[in-house]
Amino acid sequence: MNFEELSQLIKSRRSVRNWQDKDVPDEVLKQALELATYAPSGMNYQGWKFVVVKNKDMINAIADAVRSRAQKVASWEETARHMENPQAMVERAGFFRKAPVLIAVYSQIYPSSRDQIYLERMAHDEEAALMKSWLDLANPSIQSVASGIAYLLLALLAQGLGSVWMTGPMQAKGDIEQLLGKPEGFDLVALIATGYHDETPRPKTMKSFDEVVQFVE
Ligand SMILES: Cc1cc2nc3c(=O)[nH]c(=O)nc-3n(C[C@H](O)[C@H](O)[C@H](O)COP(=O)(O)O)c2cc1C
Repeated sequence: MNFEELSQLIKSRRSVRNWQDKDVPDEVLKQALELATYAPSGMNYQGWKFVVVKNKDMINAIADAVRSRAQKVASWEETARHMENPQAMVERAGFFRKAPVLIAVYSQIYPSSRDQIYLERMAHDEEAALMKSWLDLANPSIQSVASGIAYLLLALLAQGLGSVWMTGPMQAKGDIEQLLGKPEGFDLVALIATGYHDETPRPKTMKSFDEVVQFVE
């Protein structure tokens, strides 16, 4: 693949939220998922797990759980103060039930001796506590999984599949983990809905290149 082809793939990737009612062969998904596992990860720990769900009843149960949690949020007085139309949020919450495939993405906290060093040092060293707060913001487990998801979305697109990466449903994380199971030491951090897409997304607004890229003199 030359730069032009890579550029075309990256620029044509958009979030897709409508899919054809058409099965996606396991082999197609496996090929895309295999590419995702080549993404970079902190210490090459590869602390990710991808659980593929094609069972309609299970996808519906997950969407119901997400909708139910959204309904709860909609009932809060705080929501009324900050959101114009909470019911619209509830209606949107389980939109991914139309997807033929849902991929649950789990992240593993990787063991690091540095964490133990900091935990002990922070008890008597303020500077160490500050440095730990900088490290915490970087969260390598989450960044590693995010790189895997980014690769996966492109690999799925190269297979003709349109996807959306979702963290909103994580307010029902506990419910989804009860439905799908929770591998020991892993936490559910995102859902990806995918399938043969049934929409052409509108062009999106982009920040200017100069706003987001800077070369230091
Ligand atoms: C970390 C992350 C979380 C997201 N969560 C959701 C979500 O919960 N629901 C949703 O519909 N889209 C979600 N999206 C998709 C974004 O809305 C979308 O990527 C963004 O609007 C840019 O559009 P594009 O993907 O078409 O380029 C998420 C994307 C990312 C990267």
